[in-house]
Amino acid sequence: MAFLKNVLYLVGCLSAWITTAADKNLVPTAENVKWVSLDFKTILTWATKTSNYNYTVQYAWDHENWHTCLGCIEMLESECDLTNCLKAVDRTYTANIQIESADVNYAPEDLPHIQSQGFNPYRYSNISAVNFTVETNGSRVIINITDPLTSIHEDGKQLSIRDILKNDLQYKISYGKSGSTGKRDIISKANIREMPELDAGQSYCLMVAAYIPSRPKATQQGAWSKQLCTHGQTNTLQELSLGAWVGVVFILLTVLIIIVTVMVLCCRCCRQRNKIPNTSQSSVPV
Ligand SMILES: *[C@@H]1O[C@H](CO)[C@@H](O)[C@H](O)[C@H]1NC(C)=O
Ligand SMILES: *[C@@H]1O[C@H](CO)[C@@H](O)[C@H](O)[C@H]1NC(C)=O
Ligand SMILES: *[C@@H]1O[C@H](CO)[C@@H](O)[C@H](O)[C@H]1NC(C)=O
Ligand SMILES: *[C@@H]1O[C@H](CO)[C@@H](O)[C@H](O)[C@H]1NC(C)=O
Ligand SMILES: *[C@@H]1O[C@H](CO)[C@@H](O)[C@H](O)[C@H]1NC(C)=O
Repeated sequence: MAFLKNVLYLVGCLSAWITTAADKNLVPTAENVKWVSLDFKTILTWATKTSNYNYTVQYAWDHENWHTCLGCIEMLESECDLTNCLKAVDRTYTANIQIESADVNYAPEDLPHIQSQGFNPYRYSNISAVNFTVETNGSRVIINITDPLTSIHEDGKQLSIRDILKNDLQYKISYGKSGSTGKRDIISKANIREMPELDAGQSYCLMVAAYIPSRPKATQQGAWSKQLCTHGQTNTLQELSLGAWVGVVFILLTVLIIIVTVMVLCCRCCRQRNKIPNTSQSSVPV
């Protein structure tokens, strides 16, 4: 009887241990909480192992006043677009992901949650490649840069990165003679910029990137635009590349060799023709 009691006790303990263990396993985890931000479109992503959970994202910039981001409530997806919740000002936000599961009931204050690292979109949002045009007027080269648009709207207007960064936004212009590897950079505060001291008639290639010197070094520069080139009016001789020059020399040499060969052959023929009548004359019996 005592033995049975002991066994029953053991089973009881074991099952209790199993349930708590199971409960512990059920505490949901999210990993790899990451901020991804391009042109101030800012998304929080995380990885999950199990389904059956839903997530609510809150954010704060003072670690105190937590706001729930509309559109990020009881979501089944493991990412949330916080663009319209975060103010695009120089401020570091922290997000808090609350995890709810149908399998485990928690009191609201005990809900498992995960906190993100701090993120300041104003300083760390990546800036995409810009569009720009190049106009030439005589020897003047004028470039016109279009600010990339963000996905932030204010009063029905879609804001550009200039609307957000204001005077912190500058542009870096990299330029060099077409076909040469030497490049120079200039910084422009304005979107329209006349290029300084370019050689008249020379073709130049230019690229532009957003440049925000007030930011930390790693995020100061946006992506480089594609390259645009001006049409120089250089004469064709100057524009020939090394390859073209080698080609020209090769052709000239070939022509020279052909001429010399033909001349040599001709001379031999002439000499022989001059000889033949002589010999034939002498051999003909009179
Ligand atoms: C910005 O771009 C770099 C390079 O692609 C990437 O490693 C980084 O995670 C991006 N940052 C954000 C905040 O999206
Ligand atoms: C999220 O999970 C909680 C707890 O299981 C549940 O009450 C709620 O209905 C779920 N919401 C959605 C949208 O599934
Ligand atoms: C070119 O520049 C001159 C002044 O330097 C200006 O009068 C003219 O309108 C410009 N032409 C174009 C097409 O911008
Ligand atoms: C620069 O480009 C914008 C739009 O691309 C255009 O509205 C503006 O007139 C251009 N400015 C000049 C000086 O060419
Ligand atoms: C540049 O122009 C292309 C075509 O007009 C457009 O699709 C693209 O979104 C523009 N990029 C930026 C950063 O404005």
